[in-house]
Amino acid sequence: AEGDADKGEKVFKKCKACHAVGEDAKNKVGPVLNGIVGSPAGANPDFKYSDAMTEMAAEGLVWDEESLTAFLTKPKDFMKGTKMSFAGLRKEADTENVIAYLSTFN
Ligand code: HEM
Repeated sequence: AEGDADKGEKVFKKCKACHAVGEDAKNKVGPVLNGIVGSPAGANPDFKYSDAMTEMAAEGLVWDEESLTAFLTKPKDFMKGTKMSFAGLRKEADTENVIAYLSTFN
């Protein structure tokens, strides 16, 4: 199903403590997420990722709809050892919508 970017902007409030998007975005606790949809994981040269992220990136992880959905639903199940301290989005619609919102920064 197609996500709704406007609804996703509201969902992104849950991410904002740690992530920024948009023109003057800077890395915070988590990396800037501009262009993340469709991109290789762990590819921000100015961000220090966990070993878990670095390993999955080396194995070829790309943030497509499927992998983002899995990661955002249960980060620590999808990526054992990730330093993203976020319980996960429980509603499938929230995940779809936040991915649609992130896609507007590609
Ligand atoms: C990593 C999305 C919430 C901290 C990431 C990545 C994505 C993402 C796509 C991978 C980035 C990359 O490969 O460059 C989101 C979304 C969130 C959210 C959409 C809300 C639904 C949070 C929160 C925190 C956080 C609340 C802090 C408490 C981090 C950290 C990483 C990360 C530290 C790096 C993980 C590692 O190296 O293992 N996030 N995130 N995120 N995020 Fe989040």
